[in-house]
Amino acid sequence: MLVLGIESSCDETAAAIVADGAQILSSVVASQVPIHAKFGGVVPELASREHLRKIEPVVHEACHRARVGIRDVDGVAVTEGPGLVGSLLVGLVYGKALARALEIPLAGVNHLEGHIHAVLLENKVDRRAGRPVDEAQLPAVTLVVSGGHTSLFLVEEGRRQDNPHPVVFNYRRLGQTRDDAAGEAFDKVAKLLALGYPGGPAIDQLAPWGDAEAVDFGRIKMRGNPLDFSFSGLKTAVLYRVRGTALAVEAEERRAWRQARVNCPAEELRAHCSQATLGLIASFRNAVVRDLIERTLAAAEAAQVDSIWVSGGVACNSLLRARFAEASRSRGFRILVPAPVLCTDNAAMIAAAGYYKLVAGQVADATLTAHASFPLGV
Ligand code: KG4
Ligand code: ZN
Repeated sequence: MLVLGIESSCDETAAAIVADGAQILSSVVASQVPIHAKFGGVVPELASREHLRKIEPVVHEACHRARVGIRDVDGVAVTEGPGLVGSLLVGLVYGKALARALEIPLAGVNHLEGHIHAVLLENKVDRRAGRPVDEAQLPAVTLVVSGGHTSLFLVEEGRRQDNPHPVVFNYRRLGQTRDDAAGEAFDKVAKLLALGYPGGPAIDQLAPWGDAEAVDFGRIKMRGNPLDFSFSGLKTAVLYRVRGTALAVEAEERRAWRQARVNCPAEELRAHCSQATLGLIASFRNAVVRDLIERTLAAAEAAQVDSIWVSGGVACNSLLRARFAEASRSRGFRILVPAPVLCTDNAAMIAAAGYYKLVAGQVADATLTAHASFPLGV
């Protein structure tokens, strides 16, 4: 079964062709980073216009790379939320119209469910039964950590009474951020320090040159649910360390120097960072990663599961990946983190999640619409 996935929830226009929910035949992502970089964040109206410009060529390219014609596609899966409504609508209207014209079924996919399915995509799914096998074992605790979200879910396999196949996934929300998402905190700290946009990759590349013990941010304390997250205090702590100090002067000099450079190699940027700035960057990355890891491991222990899945843009972070690998060795968890290209926004993950919905008959009707806020699970 060939599913065309369409993703346009934020600043990437993406389309992919995935066979049987498991095999990526093509995955095309048109990034808008150069458009938004000069504003230091996504400008919603510019994003919508760019999606409109890119959606047709991106879908065309996905079919071309997969060597399939649009009439070979058996179903369409499109992100319905959460995200920027103006951006989501572009993909939704395109997907709806295409499904209607081709007379094939359409599935609406929650973006977070898409991120979770990126893990399954990479870790072998039995194509005949549509059943997760090998590495990806359920139940699992999953951390979705991106620019818009930081959430922990328990993923379980549900069964439908009428038909034991195919798999239906149930999601239980264990915790979520009460303020900034982790990626948002990375982006805001990078903006403060004039390291460019998006900030996560810049901080990740610069951090190894700094002393991660330079600043002791302490652990983030949570009242109530210990599996919730909060990164705004940490972000403010960085702001207080910078404001009115030599670090602020240095950041402004860097901002002026960076202005004409959209793509600035980390080596060059490092030459414009003092050891004090690099220490702050390394300590900040360390504090975020430590918090993400400790709460995820605590969630897995509380839920008594062996499997942990991690996905979303921040899952590209090299320290996070290394620390999860370490935890896997020392604590015996089976921890799966997809390749970076599947962690950031893409449409293959949407096609994979949509496949299970289409097979299970969870087909969207003509009323399918965009949702800015769209909680996953219960
Ligand atoms: O999943 P994604 O592409 O989009 C959302 O759904 O938000 O994630 C983008 C986020 C951005 O905040 C970006 O700074 C962050 O992922 N990110 C990283 C790294 N690569 C991307 N954060 C930390 N370290 C990285 N290496
Ligand atoms: Zn995302």
